Amino acid sequence: MIYLKTPEEIQQMRAATTLVSQTLGEVAKWIAPGVTTRKLDTIAREFIRDNGGRPACLGYEGFPGTLCIEVNEVVVHGFPSGYTLREGDIVGIDTVVEKDGFMGDSCYTFAVGEISAEKHALCKTTRESLAVGIEACRPGHRVGDIANAVQTYCESRGYSVVREMCGHGIGRHMHESPEVPNYGRRGTGPVLRNGMCICIEPMINMGSRNIVIEQDGWTCRTRDRQPSAHYEHTLAIIDDQVHVMTTFDYIHQAIEDRFI
Ligand code: MF3
Ligand code: CO
Repeated sequence: MIYLKTPEEIQQMRAATTLVSQTLGEVAKWIAPGVTTRKLDTIAREFIRDNGGRPACLGYEGFPGTLCIEVNEVVVHGFPSGYTLREGDIVGIDTVVEKDGFMGDSCYTFAVGEISAEKHALCKTTRESLAVGIEACRPGHRVGDIANAVQTYCESRGYSVVREMCGHGIGRHMHESPEVPNYGRRGTGPVLRNGMCICIEPMINMGSRNIVIEQDGWTCRTRDRQPSAHYEHTLAIIDDQVHVMTTFDYIHQAIEDRFI
């Protein structure tokens, strides 16, 4: 069942979507060779709490961190650890914040120092595919229109789309209906309408689309160990208009010209 929100509820959601955006901006300042992913996690957890939020991933179905850490071949749901970021890595940072009873969810894939042209192109295409998905999100259109737009954009550029993981509805819960896949057919799926809040999050691979889940039960990586990129925004539809509730502006301010 899709919970439609009132404009007031969507307004209330701004606290969480702003704070999750600021959190990624804070983490962005620290991304560099030599930093452990656990350090990034600590910074995010303290920042969220200092700003009156709750790190919603921490303890969610037993997840052990505030941040999902996605280094190179990790697609989603990697744990913060003693791993030290290295020049040439790409690292996706995905997190959810709860504030004022609502959730905000966003993800950005960062370059650690200088990265290869291939990784740069993967990140660029994935980020552009998020923009293309957002563009396809219009009241009266369907979830499949978003899915097809992302898929077509990425596959026509030689990348593959992870199918096992999807975007999702969001609100008082991190994951609500509907599922928002990154592949599918136009004109299929639920109709997009006022009161819907969704997360669009393309997870795009350089090699094949196949994934494996590691022994820890969470870490999802590409089967061929080629890199994967991931970007995510939380959106709301109010008064026949689409509002992108999260922003990468804080990230771009933090990393200036180093952004991908
Ligand atoms: N944005 C991620 C998702 O939608 C957040 C997962 S938090 C976790 O799956 F706790 F489940 F890891
Ligand atoms: Co999400």
